[in-house]
Amino acid sequence: MTSECYPLVKTGGLADVVGALPLALAPLGVETRVLLPAYPGVREQLTAARKIAAIPDLFGGPGALVAGTTAEGLQVWLVEAPHLFARKGGGPYIGPDGNDWPDNHLRFAALSWVGAQIALGKVGGWKPDVVHLHDWQAALTAAYLHAAKGAGAAAAKAVPPSMLTIHNLAFQGVFPHDVTPALKLPATAVTHDGIEYWGNISYLKAGVQWCDRLGTVSPTYAREILTHEQGMGFDGLLKARADRLVGIVNGIDDRIWDPATDQHVAAPYSARRIAPKEFNKAALQVELGLHVRTDVPLFCVVSRLTTQKGFDLLLEAMPVLHARGAQLAVLGTGDREIQDAFQRLAETHKGQVATVIGFDEPMSHRFQAGADAIVVPSRFEPCGLTQLYGLRYGTLPVVARVGGLADTVIDANEAALRDGVATGFQFSPVDAMQLGVALDRACALFADTLAWQRVQKRAMTREVGWGVAAGAYLDQYQRLLAGR
Ligand code: ADP
Ligand code: GLC
Repeated sequence: MTSECYPLVKTGGLADVVGALPLALAPLGVETRVLLPAYPGVREQLTAARKIAAIPDLFGGPGALVAGTTAEGLQVWLVEAPHLFARKGGGPYIGPDGNDWPDNHLRFAALSWVGAQIALGKVGGWKPDVVHLHDWQAALTAAYLHAAKGAGAAAAKAVPPSMLTIHNLAFQGVFPHDVTPALKLPATAVTHDGIEYWGNISYLKAGVQWCDRLGTVSPTYAREILTHEQGMGFDGLLKARADRLVGIVNGIDDRIWDPATDQHVAAPYSARRIAPKEFNKAALQVELGLHVRTDVPLFCVVSRLTTQKGFDLLLEAMPVLHARGAQLAVLGTGDREIQDAFQRLAETHKGQVATVIGFDEPMSHRFQAGADAIVVPSRFEPCGLTQLYGLRYGTLPVVARVGGLADTVIDANEAALRDGVATGFQFSPVDAMQLGVALDRACALFADTLAWQRVQKRAMTREVGWGVAAGAYLDQYQRLLAGR
């Protein structure tokens, strides 16, 4: 159950994960249904979706449907509730005015409520063995399932086990307490032992409190969120349930992210034949109005531009790149201040810095293929996917040593270079000075073409697919079933 799924709707890594994991689970014998709101863009892509069940009253409106179809190998079930999801403009969470949709509490309670009905076998004659919830938008399902258990032993037995994956603890689905009467929940669910959260309510808390397994998207982040510093108010509750918490690093979908077959790149290349990567660099430099040069490194950013991602640190560390004559290409969207700062930088450093504000999937592939390195200076990062794409594309990641970034990149220190295991650059603590040092180290290595290519090859051949993670999820599902 999810609010995003690539290629149907995407604002970040959650979509990539939910679009790929079911496909990776299929060969292991796991049959899935992805439950997703029928946003207008999704409905347009899934014209073949057919009614599975009618829902006469879904939090107001004239009635709703669950509809289903197969798309890109995924079995997708849609919550078709025009009064909640069929909106012009904006995105899944934010309206055209840049603010959250004012009824997000109802929109994602509705998604979660429908999810609970499916879990209980009340929709379309199909009942899952395990329910997997992704992030706060789906987490209230756990509250509806918990409430269903209250109706006696037989009812409790009919509730399938559940797992919550926390993709980002910063997003907690917090709403004022006074919306609770609209949520179809018993009064006991909105107390301190339920979803009450520092005077408000939190949908994420429902999942953390009541799911049978808790997961997040890297082992390091799983440890970090148990600390007061990074627990974002949830550390106490998470600690109490730490025996159920597991960190599984995301994979990447290499049907979509493989420089040898990527439809969006100018010249395909691979670890065995890296040379054509240079054509992609030149093509990107031309596209962005950068000087066409092979002798200076081209760093890139493909990201949400928010405080989490730490780009204020990159702005501060820019003198290091300027001093080395290095180039920077930014593709991102987010906080106005950070957007403006990168745009100003591009104006004052024409030919050296280029900034594209917007969300552009094909362009993100061209960035990965054309750049020499990708900068991910996040203050916290549950997993991070762009550094994984960077590894796959021989675009060496320069990353903060936090969360999934710490788990997926091996720093090119002397020992790692000597042993041939380095795949990128890490820095810690996460500040502008240490980022500057890492950028400088990257520039120095770039100047040594053979050494750089050795690291590129190592990065490109490192296993980053879904194989390991899919097995780990299956293991979690099996434990859930065994524990019944
Ligand atoms: P998060 O989910 O926190 O934003 P991830 O690194 O896990 O971070 O995933 C981000 C995903 O969104 C990646 O697939 C990345 O390529 C994509 N992405 C981010 N910003 C843009 C953008 N401006 N244009 C295209 N793709 C983007
Ligand atoms: C979140 C996290 C990111 C992670 C993604 C997919 O958006 O911020 O680190 O890669 O979810 O799990």
